[in-house]
Amino acid sequence: MSAARTPPEPRAAVGTPIGLLAELTHRCPLQCPYCSNPLALERAGAELATEVWLDVLEQGAKLGVLQLHLSGGEPTLRRDLEEIVARAAKVGLYSNLITAGVLLTRDRLERLASLGLDHVQVSIQDASAANADRIAHYGGGHARKLEVAGWVRALGLPLTINAPVHRQNIDNLPAIIDLAVSVGAQRLEVAHVQYYGWALQNRQALMPTRRQVLDSAKLVNEARERLKGIVVIDFVVPDYYARRPKPCMGGWGRGSINITPSGKALPCHAAETIPGLVFANVRDERLADIWLHSEAFQRFRGTQWMPEPCRSCELRAVDWGGCRCQALAFAGDAALTDPACAKSSLHEAFTQVAEHAAAQPAPKFAYRNPRAGAHH
Ligand code: SF4
Ligand code: FES
Repeated sequence: MSAARTPPEPRAAVGTPIGLLAELTHRCPLQCPYCSNPLALERAGAELATEVWLDVLEQGAKLGVLQLHLSGGEPTLRRDLEEIVARAAKVGLYSNLITAGVLLTRDRLERLASLGLDHVQVSIQDASAANADRIAHYGGGHARKLEVAGWVRALGLPLTINAPVHRQNIDNLPAIIDLAVSVGAQRLEVAHVQYYGWALQNRQALMPTRRQVLDSAKLVNEARERLKGIVVIDFVVPDYYARRPKPCMGGWGRGSINITPSGKALPCHAAETIPGLVFANVRDERLADIWLHSEAFQRFRGTQWMPEPCRSCELRAVDWGGCRCQALAFAGDAALTDPACAKSSLHEAFTQVAEHAAAQPAPKFAYRNPRAGAHH
């Protein structure tokens, strides 16, 4: 008896990387327990020199990159941020500074704006200053962020407020939305924490209940209606209670490149958790070669690598099989279907883990430890 066969597909055409996320440094004054940096932080001495970053921006622009996200850690810790912003403007990249804000002065922000910075994204941890400072483990941080948000608007720059939500701040969502409106943000990103790296270490301390998640979705929908024309609200749902996974990174190797402080080019920020993947470094190879040919970018590109049930699923070129890092973190194999998908044999166990974690008392945070990277 012959098994039903899925017709073979041509190898996915390689598109253009629209976005380049430059993790300029892993250093950061904050210690959020859901930080997207890896557990083994890269040390300051391993960071790329200014000239390498400037060259990477030129290469990126030639390759078709449109948006440059300057991130970290805390990107304002780089003394050459001005040069980087100026070069981005020169080569025609739209630059977005993703910052905790607490180290910025008004003068520096003004300088960055005059050099061509296009957009600022300020992260907040809550609407309540005391809780926000507790989550970030940084006294007085929340008040500084609000001040910085005010400067951003006063300088005429577009502002996005980035609010990661979880069980320890989600009940303040109405106040978080009000805060974004009051500081004049054009965009608010309400992003449920995703569980890799530091957030996975803190899963029980962060995991909301299903009820909290449903309530947050309802609230966001109502606010979107009410605040039309005032603020755009993006909403990132938590995978653990979903039935279909997110198209992580818009598909592996389809539209974005992340570059770590030491120059490793990654298809996503958590790709280094996947054992066996080798990452090319922008110190040694041209960005175009890395994008087109490097093993890491090819590994999960397109649909050819997929196992069942993804392989014959009608959504395989919509969600691209979900998130490789989540498949690894939960199923132990990055090449399996994301367990957030209801078609995965692990989906039920996945949901149960979330429900169990959310039902337990929240343990103390394991804060992102700045010394963890000392050994690189
Ligand atoms: Fe997506 Fe795979 Fe689930 Fe289909 S089976 S919805 S492609 S994760
Ligand atoms: Fe790596 Fe989703 S975070 S693929």
